[in-house]
Amino acid sequence: MKRLFLFSTFLLFLFSFVLADELYEVNYNVIPLPKEVKTDPSKKVFFMLKEGMGISYDKSNAECTRIAQFLQEWTKEVAGLNLQLTPDDKSARIQLRLVSPAAPKGKKSKKPVTLTEQEKERYTMKVTDKGIELTAYEPVGLFRAAQTLRKCLPERPDLGMMPYVEITDQPRFVYRGVMLDCARHFFSVEFVKQYIDVMALHGCNQFHWHLTEDQGWRFEVKALPDLAKKGSVREKTVIGPSRMRIYDNIPYGGYYTQEECREIVKYAAERYINVVPEIDMPGHMQSALHVFPNLGCTGGPYVVAPHWGVMREVLCGGNPETLEFLKTVFGELCDVFPSPYIHIGGDECPKERWQKCPKCQAKIKELGLTTENVKVEGGDDRGSQDGRSAENKLQSYINHEIEQFLAARGRSLIGWDEILAGGLSEGAIVMSWRGTKGGVAAAKQKHRVIMSPNVFAYIDHPQLKDYGKQPRTTDSYVVSCSKIYSFEPLVPEELSGEEGDYILGVQTNLWTEQVAYPEHALYQLLPRLASMCEVQWCKPEQKDFEDWKKRLPQLKKLYDKMGLVYCNEVE
Ligand code: ACM
Ligand code: ZN
Repeated sequence: MKRLFLFSTFLLFLFSFVLADELYEVNYNVIPLPKEVKTDPSKKVFFMLKEGMGISYDKSNAECTRIAQFLQEWTKEVAGLNLQLTPDDKSARIQLRLVSPAAPKGKKSKKPVTLTEQEKERYTMKVTDKGIELTAYEPVGLFRAAQTLRKCLPERPDLGMMPYVEITDQPRFVYRGVMLDCARHFFSVEFVKQYIDVMALHGCNQFHWHLTEDQGWRFEVKALPDLAKKGSVREKTVIGPSRMRIYDNIPYGGYYTQEECREIVKYAAERYINVVPEIDMPGHMQSALHVFPNLGCTGGPYVVAPHWGVMREVLCGGNPETLEFLKTVFGELCDVFPSPYIHIGGDECPKERWQKCPKCQAKIKELGLTTENVKVEGGDDRGSQDGRSAENKLQSYINHEIEQFLAARGRSLIGWDEILAGGLSEGAIVMSWRGTKGGVAAAKQKHRVIMSPNVFAYIDHPQLKDYGKQPRTTDSYVVSCSKIYSFEPLVPEELSGEEGDYILGVQTNLWTEQVAYPEHALYQLLPRLASMCEVQWCKPEQKDFEDWKKRLPQLKKLYDKMGLVYCNEVE
């Protein structure tokens, strides 16, 4: 009996050994799903990666060189293979090449072809008997190609067969954003870089960096050194619901020096991600008021807020020093961040102080602002009257001043959808967060829009119905992977074709009132970003949630290799 047991155990061992060593075909259907993946299943022809194969690239191009180095690192990470960097080597098995775009058929022109933003990111990946060839018009396209290759590399190159294929890909939207709130809780430069790496893996290209809040000022302003030094520190933090006012009594702080911000900008740019900095004004400013109480309607004193919520203390809209202060801050922000977009916040600015403040009321009179009894679609302001109140128009006046200030520096203003309330200034871009109404209204007014509706895009909310299965978060509704996946940013029932062209893209937001640690932030982000990135990258006709679920395990293997924390269930 014992012998029989030993023999069958031996057979089982042998069997599993043979099984584990079976050849397998790699899967090119990565996340986000490429636009076109052409294989010929009738032809069983494969390429196999081997130790020591070369990666060729144009050595004279610094970006191509860096992308080749990334690919070398990733191949080591995923497949454990050491590939060689062999610049300008036509015989290398992996080729990275920039190619010139062809003129449209029938048009022979000597003029260079102008590429759309999406075409700049276009790439092809071909696997043939010669090896793997990645081509693109611009380095950013090569970077996207290298990321796709990274995601379909065989874990076991001795067994993973790469069928011959031709992949052609480019994104749907030009703006594919992810926000991180580093003001409610502070995250290290090291973690911000990891967050950017994760974004790049998912094909995102805009890192919205929320830098200031009632609960902490995180951006160094050299002309106002106390702003970050004192404004970044709260004396304590609320434990549990804000209304209970139970605190930990532990001072909490942290801010980014301008040097660190520049380091982040460079790191992101090397991964083809633009950093959109946000200074949230004129609400969400209690940390600045703590340092400069003269900028508040009552004169203070004010504390850096130790709990969450919408604060009634905001910058005084009638004090000329407010605009001076804002121009100093936004001036330095523009010096540090080369982004074409600068986010001015503009959300949740209750007007109860402004209604009673002599300075605010005098300014309203001076500007001849009056309350109109109209409802502004998508532009109601929490804590104030709806629509076109004189106070909302005063906020628009401030926005307009800052918009001109930014425009003189070649930048466009982004604001949360409350900026619709008092009337939009000329080139303002609306970030629609309270549903899609604000975005639709802005697009109809021919303003550019970024869709970020909370019920589909706020990943501070739980991702599973059972709250007990996940870390404590903002808990009013669930934002599951399937919910995110179902979002269609062009709101076809509301926007006609041309109006839809104003939708620049989509963004997901990670607010951090309840998220204090990097691992928790990653858990909130993943795998929901894998769902959001298909909303951002793929055409609606390509999308299929059940198919996405089948493709997710391959990406999760990569998350494991990268040491990322993620939620292991999907709803
Ligand atoms: C926001 O969630 N208050 C923009
Ligand atoms: Zn005031």
